[in-house]
Amino acid sequence: MIFAIETSCDETSTAIIDLEGNILSHIVANQQEHEKFGGVVPEIASRAHIQILQRIIPETFKKAGVSNSSIKIYCSTCGPGLIGGLLVGTIVAKSMAIANNKPFYPINHLEGHALSVQINNNVKFPFVLLLITGGHTQMYIVKEIGSYNLLGTTIDDSVGECFDKVAKMLGMPYPGGKHIELKALNGIKNKYNFPRPLIKNKNLNFSFSGLKTAMKIEINKHNSLNQKQIENFSASFQQSIIDILEKKSELAIEYAKNKIPEINSFVVAGGVAANKSIKNSLTLLCKKHKFKIYYPPLSLCGDNAAMIAWACLKRYKLGYKEDIHFKPRPRWSLNELR
Ligand code: KG4
Ligand code: ZN
Repeated sequence: MIFAIETSCDETSTAIIDLEGNILSHIVANQQEHEKFGGVVPEIASRAHIQILQRIIPETFKKAGVSNSSIKIYCSTCGPGLIGGLLVGTIVAKSMAIANNKPFYPINHLEGHALSVQINNNVKFPFVLLLITGGHTQMYIVKEIGSYNLLGTTIDDSVGECFDKVAKMLGMPYPGGKHIELKALNGIKNKYNFPRPLIKNKNLNFSFSGLKTAMKIEINKHNSLNQKQIENFSASFQQSIIDILEKKSELAIEYAKNKIPEINSFVVAGGVAANKSIKNSLTLLCKKHKFKIYYPPLSLCGDNAAMIAWACLKRYKLGYKEDIHFKPRPRWSLNELR
């Protein structure tokens, strides 16, 4: 069995999976402490990880009905992410490994997201990956574990960050992505024609800061917003995001087909992959290009330790080695992985 800890941002999560990849127990504790600040406060997050881990680690073992003697490997997210949180999770997992005389595997958070679809679906390599989280917006061709070919990335904000900042402007709590999605359901999506930065650009990079600024300018024209206005802002904003993601995904699919004619899978992963309207539009796009689309179930879209345990299992099975000396890295891109 594998025991995993995820503490790279503001979710504290632990999981135990067996060596076939079945999830035996999985706990995700969202830190509510950050809501009133409108964003994650790193120092508060680190302290909260310590408190929460003390509670959920015993719970995780109890739920799985196992003890440390059944654990074959300990692992944790070692980056990218907030260094304080990464240190907390890694020190705890390494200590458990040392105390039980078992190996420790350092896991890349983005690899966790990238492979998370495989937990419940038999998604074969290679696939095109759209990774949309609070910290990243990237497009890859994933050929196999350890072979991540970056096609494009955001040149400023990530899509999740843009959702959260716009939600804050509209008076919604943090993290705001899901609140925008909810309000957008009743809004008019072409009420405002917000910019779609880089949409006509043929490369696969993204940009969201211009959209965020345009939203700010439009919102600031109003002294206060009523429900209808909030719904319309949400719907029009979300439509801009959808158009950008759809266009870049289409370019990525066309590029990938040129490079690897047999490729026919498209994966959307990360916290923003929880958004139904985004998934619906990408599903239509994939249908048009005869691609199969895969996304993780809601419980595995956001940050979670099950995906970390899963990535660890895959690495272990491929013969990758333990590394108790690995130092957590705030920056650690997928294409640095081998
Ligand atoms: O992957 P994740 O949990 O954390 C990072 O690795 O960053 O992603 C968190 C992001 C937040 O920005 C959050 O607002 C966004 O995912 N998110 C959503 C939705 N649910 C979560 N964005 C849009 N629509 C949603 N339904
Ligand atoms: Zn994440």
